Amino acid sequence: MAQDLGVSRNTVTATLDELIADGWVEARRGSGVYVLHETRAEQPEAVDAPTDEPFTRPFEIDPPGLDIFPLEAWRRIQARRWADMPRMDLREGASAGYSGLRRTIADHVWVAHGVSCTPEQIIVTQGARSGLDLVLRCLTEPGDDVWLEKPGYFGFRSIMDAAGRRPVYAPVDAEGLDVAAARALSPGARLAVVTPQSQMPTCMRMSEERRQALLDWAAETGGWIFEDDYDAEFRFDKGRALPLAGQPGADRVIYAHSFNKTLFPALRIGFLVVPPGLTDLFVEKRRHADGYPSVPDQMVLRDFIEAGWLDTHVRACRAAYRQRKDVMYETVEPMLRRWLRFEDHPSGLHIVAWLDPAVSPAALRDRALSVGIHLTPMDDYYPEPAGDPRLVLGFAGFTPDRLIAGARKLLAILSEETTG
Ligand SMILES: Cc1ncc(COP(=O)(O)O)c(C=O)c1O
Repeated sequence: MAQDLGVSRNTVTATLDELIADGWVEARRGSGVYVLHETRAEQPEAVDAPTDEPFTRPFEIDPPGLDIFPLEAWRRIQARRWADMPRMDLREGASAGYSGLRRTIADHVWVAHGVSCTPEQIIVTQGARSGLDLVLRCLTEPGDDVWLEKPGYFGFRSIMDAAGRRPVYAPVDAEGLDVAAARALSPGARLAVVTPQSQMPTCMRMSEERRQALLDWAAETGGWIFEDDYDAEFRFDKGRALPLAGQPGADRVIYAHSFNKTLFPALRIGFLVVPPGLTDLFVEKRRHADGYPSVPDQMVLRDFIEAGWLDTHVRACRAAYRQRKDVMYETVEPMLRRWLRFEDHPSGLHIVAWLDPAVSPAALRDRALSVGIHLTPMDDYYPEPAGDPRLVLGFAGFTPDRLIAGARKLLAILSEETTG
């Protein structure tokens, strides 16, 4: 074999030893070396090639305005951070998050959201969902009841299932979560998951009476409140008010916010503000879960905020989103008025629209998807089909041109559905 291949005997022997050790071939005394056929499972044939293709469809809920994100500033800040990165900073990170970012967030959450806390109370997470997961593991036991809003953000349902906690769906009305109804459904619940500033998906602000009722429930029963302030920056009226966590008597509130919506979804960084006595517990549980978040990403985010880019970007977003919202009311709604009536919301990056009862939201969603339009039936926000005739239309991630082009396609489909 050495002669055939034109290599030395030592090379052949060493290679065969390696193949035998890895189980590819077998040496049979006095007979030779044989290839083993059954050593490896067949590589499964790819059904769909994986793709990271970034596409967004008009009226999708999730994407923020990626077109206005200051990518150049982020690139520069990231390059500078890596250029100066001491090798020691490549070691493991802290479970509560990078201390520099925690300090910056503590300042930011006070100035921007009115929540007063120390850097020690900040736990950096991957976002609101991973924040809820950690809260469930720290403050509840498997099988415990947890109040969720109905309708409410569907992303939290799977977190509850995975953690084995029992969701109790409490109705939401024009004042937010109905605390009395929730108490009747589950008096022993350990946690309430709420969006008081801008209820997801109805965009209502929780009334003062309901806020007090929720705080009273927590104080009386020893329950906890998870306040998801996901859309905090984007109220378009003058009615910005303190989140629950900034109100007096909020010592049983865990405040959650996410940069994934404010900046860009691929970032995967958010944070919790936990009451002072709970920090050690959260850090300990975090250590045993996913350890700690990516340190260099946290450093870049810290530099981005400290350089004033978060504030600049939020201002730019507010202006762009206000314009996009105006396009929705002034151009899109008149085009579609025969079938859709838009609710009026002072907050939120989406609009709730009442659909003509003659049209099925699910059928329309499927038809729209086939032409590249993403509609979200309100029913998706219920744990089971509720027959809610409304649609939820995202606008923040799309330029006026894309919104209007999307509306034209929708108009064509709705006209077909009604005449056909
Ligand atoms: C109500 C609500 N909370 C939180 C989030 C974001 O969660 P995460 O930071 O886990 O991506 C969203 C995303 O759309 C949301 O709608």
